[in-house]
Amino acid sequence: MLTEKRDEVSQLELARQDCFIEEIRALNNAENKDKYFYNLAMGCQMNAHDSEKLKSMLVRMGYKETNDEEKADFVIYNTCCVRENAEVKVYGKLGFLKHIKQTKPNLIVAICGCMMQQETVLQKIKESHRHVNIIFGTFNLHKLPELLKTHLQTGDRVIDIWNEHGEIIEDTNYLREFPYKASVNIVYGCNNFCTYCIVPYVRGRERSREKEDIKNEIKGLIADGVKEIVLLGQNVNSYGKNLENPVTFAQLLREINEIDGLERLRFMTSHPKDLSDELIYAMRDCEKVCNYLHLPFQSGSTKILTKMNRGYTKEQYLTLIEKIKKEIPDILISTDIIVGFPGETEEDFQETLDVAKKVGFSTAFTFMYSKRTGTPAATMENQVDEEVVHDRFNRLLGVLNPIIFDIHSALVGKTLKVIVEGVSKQDDNIVSGRSENNCLVHFKGDKTLIGQTVPIKIVGNKTFYLIGERI
Ligand code: 5AD
Ligand code: SF4
Repeated sequence: MLTEKRDEVSQLELARQDCFIEEIRALNNAENKDKYFYNLAMGCQMNAHDSEKLKSMLVRMGYKETNDEEKADFVIYNTCCVRENAEVKVYGKLGFLKHIKQTKPNLIVAICGCMMQQETVLQKIKESHRHVNIIFGTFNLHKLPELLKTHLQTGDRVIDIWNEHGEIIEDTNYLREFPYKASVNIVYGCNNFCTYCIVPYVRGRERSREKEDIKNEIKGLIADGVKEIVLLGQNVNSYGKNLENPVTFAQLLREINEIDGLERLRFMTSHPKDLSDELIYAMRDCEKVCNYLHLPFQSGSTKILTKMNRGYTKEQYLTLIEKIKKEIPDILISTDIIVGFPGETEEDFQETLDVAKKVGFSTAFTFMYSKRTGTPAATMENQVDEEVVHDRFNRLLGVLNPIIFDIHSALVGKTLKVIVEGVSKQDDNIVSGRSENNCLVHFKGDKTLIGQTVPIKIVGNKTFYLIGERI
């Protein structure tokens, strides 16, 4: 019953937007010349997936995609606010567009995504960037056609920011970036409130999609040629807790694993505090679930982890890693690490280096702490000096890179199944793809291999990739 009601809300809303899409398409067709859009996705995988949906709507409205911002009739920036440098980049880009708009007054500029959910940012854009025509947020992506239509009709600036999510709009009818792999949202928002992180404020509370909706989307994708699915959520491990009929993430994985035609199943991001034994066993038992796990630890110091509100200690993280490696011996693990969180001392930093050495990550995403207004950490005492943060960051890379190199070296001589993603930009005769354990592999081949699964013998490695040969 609930499912039916939800479907009805989605269908009605999408049908409304379809009408606007048709109207804009007719207007564009009437102009008798090609109209182009430029889309910039500036954030995480969820942001990139949102951009796939935005692009699909624009294509259906009669626009063609261009990578040349200056050629575009419609420019849309899908922003990120996790760290300050992403925000600085947006203001720089907006300055550039202002300049273009002086010679091209019909250019339409739209901006959306996480940054727009912050009141201070919204005010700044409203007041100081008047050339932005359409502004919307993370909760009402599906309304782009309506907002654009209103702008075209009135010439006015259109601003529509929701402070809370409405019903989950089940829009699964979108164009994908890759024909053979696709991202599927399973849970939106985050309830964890890590003290450094802005995400819970801009993406709202956790909402899980119904299991059957997720499975149906995946079946549709497979019928359309997809082999590899990435399940997305800020914290996938808390999937299903708040559904009317609760489901665990492990149960979801087991059921998706049964879907015919699926080759690989990945997911991100996992929170260590919620990673259950049940999930480890599901990963071990499900042959389609890749032997790869992204498990951010952020800091190796229990004192800092407590101040970050992460909900685990250094020892608990290391014990969890041991348990995972015991059950899935060939697993590769990647992580996120922040250096320079307020109050971090040299001793705390040494604990971070210690975790890096003990675990042996195959990849690490490393960040300098970035103060985010509105988060508890922004007003904490003992903010770390910028120079100290830079120094620790460089020392961290100095420790991580040889570890990553060694993890890759250990794969030389093995045969890995690689799904080919594309041809090298430097050499037409080299292709690259990903192994099941998420290593980047380069080998001799041509574009006819794109999307195929090829067994590759690993014959060499660099720090960040493997070199292989077809067998
Ligand atoms: N400063 C630096 N890094 C951050 N992250 C999230 N918020 C911040 C911040 N304020 C990092 C975390 C998270 C990743 C997506 O971004 O490591 O796991
Ligand atoms: Fe941010 Fe923590 Fe939620 Fe991840 S789990 S999105 S770091 S608050």
